[in-house]
Amino acid sequence: MAKIHVSTTINGEPTEFLCDAGDSMLDALRDTLGLTGSKEGCGTGDCGACSITLGGRLVCSCLMLAAEADGQEIETIEGMAKPDKLHPLQQKFLESAALQCGICTPGMLVAAKSLLERNPDPTETEVRFWLAGNLCRCTGYDKIVRAVMETAADMREAAR
Ligand code: FES
Ligand code: FES
Repeated sequence: MAKIHVSTTINGEPTEFLCDAGDSMLDALRDTLGLTGSKEGCGTGDCGACSITLGGRLVCSCLMLAAEADGQEIETIEGMAKPDKLHPLQQKFLESAALQCGICTPGMLVAAKSLLERNPDPTETEVRFWLAGNLCRCTGYDKIVRAVMETAADMREAAR
């Protein structure tokens, strides 16, 4: 079957790739483009480990077809830090030991960043609600929620 040619923008970089009609965006990111930060936890839209943004909207890349990226703007965990500086959320996760495993952390960070872009002053309930789509099988939610709240406060202060 003929491959589909996709022209998209990923983390600000114009990007082109070929995919099959049934390929997920997660497949394209990991297997074709070498962007392995987005992880496959479940592959069925339940865990959030594959979270990316598409046109600024938080989506599960395992549920999105790669061909749907055509003409769209995508951001992944690889675009979160500047070359010489972590995103404030990444820095806070590190400092406060808001630990998740390597499968869960990228999705949590992408989701938290998306929340703070929409709502710079979320309540704890809003943070917990927003991260409800990011499932881990072990622990860590309290520290993560606290880290997101503290980052939001720091970013509001920095924006004054
Ligand atoms: S891998 Fe996409 S939601 Fe779990
Ligand atoms: S931190 Fe990844 S499964 Fe719990």
